[in-house]
Amino acid sequence: MEQDEFSLRKFVAPEFIFGNDARKLVARYAKNFGARKVLLVTDPGVLAAGWTDDVITTLKEAGFDYAVYSSVTSNPKVNEVEAGAHFYQREGCNAIVAVGGGSPMDCAKGIGIVSANKRDVREFEGVDKVELSMPPLICVPTTAGSSADVSQFAIITDADRRVKYAIISKMIVPDVALIDPVTTTSMPSELTADTALDALCHAIEAFVSTAHSPITDLFALQAIRLVSSNLLPTLEAPDNRNFRGRMMLASLEAGLAFSNTSLGLIHAMAHSLGGLLDAPHGECNALLLPYIIDFNFDAVPDRYMLIGEAMGLSTMGMAPDDMRSALHSKITFFRESAGITHTLARLGVTKSDIPELALKALNDPCIFTNPRQPTIKDIEAIYEKAL
Ligand SMILES: [Fe+2]
Repeated sequence: MEQDEFSLRKFVAPEFIFGNDARKLVARYAKNFGARKVLLVTDPGVLAAGWTDDVITTLKEAGFDYAVYSSVTSNPKVNEVEAGAHFYQREGCNAIVAVGGGSPMDCAKGIGIVSANKRDVREFEGVDKVELSMPPLICVPTTAGSSADVSQFAIITDADRRVKYAIISKMIVPDVALIDPVTTTSMPSELTADTALDALCHAIEAFVSTAHSPITDLFALQAIRLVSSNLLPTLEAPDNRNFRGRMMLASLEAGLAFSNTSLGLIHAMAHSLGGLLDAPHGECNALLLPYIIDFNFDAVPDRYMLIGEAMGLSTMGMAPDDMRSALHSKITFFRESAGITHTLARLGVTKSDIPELALKALNDPCIFTNPRQPTIKDIEAIYEKAL
């Protein structure tokens, strides 16, 4: 159902600096925040690319003590957050710097709230469950997709329950994001495509969210335009800093939008898949996206028309049903052109997994702002189509 045009909305965003070499400003902000010893949260891939070393150099030059925690896998786990929080304590740190994609940043958020609240990270699942604010957190994102550096979200995997769960709270918005497109030049093409499709899904879900606003609409639509027109050129010229910059800008804008609107059925279903398979998040989103557009379209057809236009479709005189199938085809073609050609079955999902997947998706908080509320049967049918 469409909302009133001016329903009450708030917009939360951290301070951020965007541009080439922003990563080199970490020490300046660490000083502003009164840091004494910094916990650097990163992962082995980002360490190997050299981005963490760049940050360490600036910290050393400014005389900061630091400790590096890099035991973070893709889809960060409860035990990785716990081990990181113990390490933070043991090393006597009083500030956190995350350098990496969504996984190190989400893990850093978990470490921050566990350290401040002295509670199990599983107790923060859901909306507004964090009481005490975390230590200062500086984020340097190195992928163009997760937007954890500006968002109120952290996604943690509880391997025991085989669940990826969301922590949604204003308390986990970082204190500053230093958004440096140069760091994305080391991303391989698969990661570039996966993270870009994640950003596209953030923007689309934000634009059709029941909590959207005129401000989030601006960011969401522009992010859709940027991803649509720059992903393929970026894959062809991965060292081109202007293309990389536009993809990073798209990620930022999509993040500012979805952090304030929440998400929808794509993310609810992708989190459920991620809990089962430990599969790349952006790829899960991308495989579900066309089918969820089919499901949601009639709830907000005008909004999907605008999404189609932002992706370059000519919608003049087109009937809604034609628009729906044109958008479905456009998105499928787009993701396949970016190299995402799997199906859920090829990722390892079987028909017998679907009832459990659907139940978990139905319980994911991202589902609340989807423009059409699905039944469990609806969700099962969407998984089957994407199989
Ligand atoms: Fe996402």
